[in-house]
Amino acid sequence: MKSVLILGGYGNAGFLISKFLLQQSTDVNIIVAGRRIQKAEAAVKELNESFPGDRASALQVDITDIPAFQKALKKATIVVNAASTIQFTKQITEEVLQAGLDYIDIHLSSPHKLEVLFGMEEKIKSAGCCFFTDGGFHPGITSTLVRRASEFYDELQVANIYGGLKIDWGAIEASPGTMEEMLEEFKHYSSLHYKNGQWKTMSWFAMPSNYDFGPPYGKMPCSPMFLNEQKVLPELIPSLRETGFYVSGFNPFMDLILLPLIMLFIKIPLRFFQYLSFKLFRLGFKFSKPPYGVRLITDCKGIKSGQERHMKLVLEHNDEYLLTAVPTVACLLQYLDGSIKKPGVWFQANAVEPTRFFEDMGRMGLPLRVEEG
Ligand SMILES: NC(=O)c1ccc[n+]([C@@H]2O[C@H](COP(=O)([O-])OP(=O)(O)OC[C@H]3O[C@@H](n4cnc5c(N)ncnc54)[C@H](OP(=O)(O)O)[C@@H]3O)[C@@H](O)[C@H]2O)c1
Repeated sequence: MKSVLILGGYGNAGFLISKFLLQQSTDVNIIVAGRRIQKAEAAVKELNESFPGDRASALQVDITDIPAFQKALKKATIVVNAASTIQFTKQITEEVLQAGLDYIDIHLSSPHKLEVLFGMEEKIKSAGCCFFTDGGFHPGITSTLVRRASEFYDELQVANIYGGLKIDWGAIEASPGTMEEMLEEFKHYSSLHYKNGQWKTMSWFAMPSNYDFGPPYGKMPCSPMFLNEQKVLPELIPSLRETGFYVSGFNPFMDLILLPLIMLFIKIPLRFFQYLSFKLFRLGFKFSKPPYGVRLITDCKGIKSGQERHMKLVLEHNDEYLLTAVPTVACLLQYLDGSIKKPGVWFQANAVEPTRFFEDMGRMGLPLRVEEG
């Protein structure tokens, strides 16, 4: 039995990771950890009632309390970091490494986090540890989708991913720490996308292009959002001339009025402006309107058997946290059976074997639909 320590295991994403992991693998025990033991115990009760074998247990842990964190690590084989603790990446990595464990995080793709992890890669490798980063959905699957698409072509030329995120942001109960992390994403926003065989940026004032997501969402303006996992794609798929992740906004009031202010304020290193950005961000959530759901379309063009082929790979669900948890668990399943366990630091999206990854996701209720034409 492998023992998986899930930091933030009763949070929005962490609880679903716990649930799908117990459902998909009978060879694991999980430890649901966080600072509030009552919440961990309530989650464990629900999990053990749903899955046989009493394989979940609760643990009170604040990762900033180093001795307590070290004690928690003694119980585990791998750490799944689903806690809003990105600012502690260095301390966490050092402790996990010291304990000789493997690790996956689902944090946003921040340059600081990646600098820390890849800066320690040699130590991680020589300790024989396997670290996955940028797990989850975005980051987490955009480059896997393009790699999967390339399996349908002799020459894949275009693979643009459009993310229609119609989320009821106001209804999400995430902790202030998680909200701050979401806001942090804007500090490091990059519009890099690959066009005509070159990486390009898009000016903040350029009009986002409309993409038709089909009913019930229709056309939504989408802007490029670079994720580090995409950087290797032109090298992996030399025929590729165009790729990028184009994401829809929040709602018109947030996108047109509040976001430009937030983007400006968040870069001013004064507490007042950080606070103001946070308040405006939360205010903007209130203007989201139904229909709600997430639809991710990978729009592809290329050549198959001498003929032009146009197809779309579609992933969709109305629970954005399920979209985060299921790919993380699909990666863990490949790790647990040893097929992708290698010393080093790997992006989840590039470490996984794509065909099995999407098959496993389909089994968990998130099938990848292929639409021709
Ligand atoms: N890659 C993706 O696609 C994706 C999508 C969504 C979210 N995320 C990321 O996933 C993470 C979790 O998001 P969420 O929405 O699930 O957040 P959430 O519901 O607020 O859960 C955060 C969890 O972290 C725990 N936590 C916070 N600080 C901690 C500490 N010092 N020690 C131990 N536990 C701590 C919290 O419990 P206590 O406060 O009780 O300790 C809670 O269980 C965030 O980093 C977010 O950016 C990634």
